[in-house]
Amino acid sequence: MHDAQSSRPADPPVHVAIIMDGNGRWAKARGLPRTAGHKKGVDAVRRSITAARELGIAYLTLFSFSSENWRRPEQEVSDLMGLLRFYLRSEVAELHKAGVRLRVIGDRARLSPDIVSLIEHGETLTAGNTALTVVIALSYGGRQEITLAARRLAEDVAAGRISPADVDEGALAARLHTDGIPDPDLLIRTSGELRLSNFLLWQTAYTELVFTDTLWPDFTKSDLEAAIAEFQRRDRRFGATASSR
Ligand code: IPE
Ligand code: IPE
Ligand code: MG
Repeated sequence: MHDAQSSRPADPPVHVAIIMDGNGRWAKARGLPRTAGHKKGVDAVRRSITAARELGIAYLTLFSFSSENWRRPEQEVSDLMGLLRFYLRSEVAELHKAGVRLRVIGDRARLSPDIVSLIEHGETLTAGNTALTVVIALSYGGRQEITLAARRLAEDVAAGRISPADVDEGALAARLHTDGIPDPDLLIRTSGELRLSNFLLWQTAYTELVFTDTLWPDFTKSDLEAAIAEFQRRDRRFGATASSR
């Protein structure tokens, strides 16, 4: 879409967030166990990271495991953790070579210590990279994140470090896991589900939402391009009128 006044193409998104959904249905349609879908989902993660770099996206956030996904059968949770362990072991060096900075958000206390070590290693190794920041949301829940930020604010007030009058949007945002990361411009959810499922509740206040029926294991660069094209057709007003921006 072209901006009427300048006839420049609309800006591409700086930050794209994806709810990677539909692995189980992808497997079921093929008579395979759900884990086969999760494995194929890892390939789609690799493809998306490469595509994001090629498309000049600065931040890519991937919802990998929600705080509610702990409710799944023990075997599926352990398969998912196994895949994550495998991914971190095999992929971090590749990400680093490609100039990707890795960041993981969510409740680490629920993860096994060896996974936490792999995450810490990956974050430290890639901290100086600038090509693309990949944010993995893991054991992540939006309400939990906001609640934790509120608790930290309360602690800071109780200890006299800040006054109640200092509690504003910036103070809360600075205590979220996403501190320093711009809000997503575009959120994509695959598999046809039309909900947020507790993902980035604070950060998506003005995010453009794009839903696609494609199941996550089938997601390709052209799906990402289609979502970006849809984003560029949207008129983002942020509550103002089109002309007053
Ligand atoms: C997304 O696929 C992956 C995770 C939530 C870990 P699902 O496992 O939710 O797949 P469906 O929704 O059952 O098809
Ligand atoms: C959301 O998908 C979480 C991830 C993609 C990691 P779910 O499949 O868990 O969401 P619901 O249960 O359908 O809302
Ligand atoms: Mg699902």
